[in-house]
Amino acid sequence: MQLKEEDRFIEILTGSYCVLDLAKITGNAEFIELDLGCGKGSFTTKLAERYPDRAVLAADVMIGRLRKLVKRNQRAGVANITALRVEAQLLVSRFLPDNGLDRLHLLCPDPWPKERHRGHRLVTADFATQLRRVLKLGGVLHFSSDDVPYRDSVERILDGCGLFERDDSAIADIADIKTDFEELWLSTGKDVRHYAYRALPVNFDSPGH
Ligand SMILES: C[S@@+](CC[C@H](N)C(=O)[O-])C[C@H]1O[C@@H](n2cnc3c(N)ncnc32)[C@H](O)[C@@H]1O
Repeated sequence: MQLKEEDRFIEILTGSYCVLDLAKITGNAEFIELDLGCGKGSFTTKLAERYPDRAVLAADVMIGRLRKLVKRNQRAGVANITALRVEAQLLVSRFLPDNGLDRLHLLCPDPWPKERHRGHRLVTADFATQLRRVLKLGGVLHFSSDDVPYRDSVERILDGCGLFERDDSAIADIADIKTDFEELWLSTGKDVRHYAYRALPVNFDSPGH
């Protein structure tokens, strides 16, 4: 891979699975948001601009998209975003510590609509458990999709897993911020729905877990 100037601002997480020191990465920010599968990250930038005191982690597996995000942030003078090039399952199951995030956005993830591709979808019951693990107690999981079967399946998983409770008010503050893909789907007449869930108490909330 040919390196580019923006790559100095992208953390590349691969192979060796060490748990990230979020305090170090975020400069001890009190409130940490993660945009998982951020793409080109227009939403990420607007979120970070709205909340300059918060740390925003922007994760995607495609470096080209992260480069666009980094360039935009540099132009706009946005300094509270950390770009992570990493596969989402690895990030959530290996790199992120327990109870570290205040809000996690999983917006318009690839829906894999064909039956034979369903196995590629990110959100499964196992993944939901990992999402809960990395959120603080009361932290927020924000999901959106234009794909009706995917969002029905995610709603079933999250409603039924006992780890979250629905609270759409937890994303009211950012209802006006659209992602790049959401803008695209809305422009073609599709309907994008948003869901928010709060993390309920579970054993891994206890210190020393
Ligand atoms: C449909 S796009 C949505 C991007 C953005 N959230 C938006 O709404 O505009 C899905 C994004 O997820 C990323 N992605 C897909 N699978 C991933 C994975 N397993 N790990 C990390 N990123 C992934 C893709 O590279 C892509 O940027």
